[in-house]
Amino acid sequence: SPSTVDKKAGTTERFSSAGFILAAIGSSVGLGNMWKFTYVTGQNGGGAFFLLFIACLFIVGLPVLLGELAVGRAGRGDAVISFSKLSGKKWWGALGFVAVMAAFLVMTFYSTIAGWTLHYAVQSISGSLFESTDYQAVYDAFTASSAPIWWQIAIFVITGIVIAKGISSGIEKFNKIVIPGLLIILVIMLVRTLTLDGAAEGIRYFLYPDFSQLTFQSALEALGLAFFSLSLGMGAMLTYGAYVEKHQSLSAATLAVGAGDLAYALIAGLIIFPTTFTFGIAPNAGPGLVFVALPAAFAAMPFGNLFGGLFFILLAIAAITSCLALIEVPVAYLMRKYGHGRTKATVFVMIAMYVLALPVTLAAGGVLTDVTFAGRNLFDWLDFVTSNIMLPLGGLFVTILVGFVWKGAGEETGLKGWWLKAWLFSMRYIAPILIVLIFLKYAGII
Ligand code: PFF
Repeated sequence: SPSTVDKKAGTTERFSSAGFILAAIGSSVGLGNMWKFTYVTGQNGGGAFFLLFIACLFIVGLPVLLGELAVGRAGRGDAVISFSKLSGKKWWGALGFVAVMAAFLVMTFYSTIAGWTLHYAVQSISGSLFESTDYQAVYDAFTASSAPIWWQIAIFVITGIVIAKGISSGIEKFNKIVIPGLLIILVIMLVRTLTLDGAAEGIRYFLYPDFSQLTFQSALEALGLAFFSLSLGMGAMLTYGAYVEKHQSLSAATLAVGAGDLAYALIAGLIIFPTTFTFGIAPNAGPGLVFVALPAAFAAMPFGNLFGGLFFILLAIAAITSCLALIEVPVAYLMRKYGHGRTKATVFVMIAMYVLALPVTLAAGGVLTDVTFAGRNLFDWLDFVTSNIMLPLGGLFVTILVGFVWKGAGEETGLKGWWLKAWLFSMRYIAPILIVLIFLKYAGII
């Protein structure tokens, strides 16, 4: 495929209006909502953490999201070129490169989990998932086997095919079906989980804030999760922003993404926690939580294997729509920097990603699980460093660029009056100060 990047004008590819909203929601709704949100909330004690997450989403996340979209559209390119173009300084490109690296690294472990969901879909439909009721043992045996490697390769292949088809025909079409479909299945599951014996206890755990559970580590994790969940700080929304038409409202898109993301997280919590309390699963079980808890819920439903299959397939596809955004970040960078066509850039990026993705998968239950450095294995390190350090850092760069360096930000967003003032205030003061404070506290400096 020929290059779609013009030296002066930047990228010439464009989303349709609806296509952009769907793709942005598709990027934000994914494993972050079902898998990561629930296990991190479970590890941080429930309700109080959820409140903290919502606060981070609105006070820091949505303003940064709008900032990223504005930077992308005005820069008409990947994170590196847009940062240096709008700042007027070439070295800003190096800060943008942190975001490109973050996207690259997130894909390595995200694809592991996405592969797991495909396996669970097949096992659920065939019924073999329900042969034992010890779902923890099933999970341990699966993650220790070689199967996750093959499922991860499947994710890479499917994702590669969609992304090579390009912005409008590939990414848009996919999202139109999956995002609403997933919602329907979730609501059906919700009806069942809310009528389980442990529902009241689970809901209380998830929604009643017990602030004694919170630590500063929780604050860092809530912020990191908000960034992860909204796909911020790794240039993904920025890169999508480069394909948005000038007349489209960025603030409307921001609100749609925020509402969609929160809705999916809320529903996910209302499904998972009643299930964990009903079936005696510890809510702080860690990254396996969804895979250990949900089979028990499906087993307790009529046609549970079909619902389970459908749910895990839709979750896998929701994960793929997020992978698309992740891969697009380095792909856009290569297309612009080296003039490659889309196909060539995609193939190159995916091969490079896979080289790291394989050992990451082996560290998520397989032979590299116990190979740790300072208490974390490769999988845990990537999850931790990207979410809790690189993404907030990427967000910080956006707030500085938009708040202090690039003068055209307000105009690009289309905000007026008080909204504009409030947004700029968040970008200049609230968001960066909160990010820095949490970092300093976490580093033990304050
Ligand atoms: N926001 C996605 C999720 O919550 O699953 C994760 C993600 C996708 C992050 C795409 C970044 C990204 F570019």
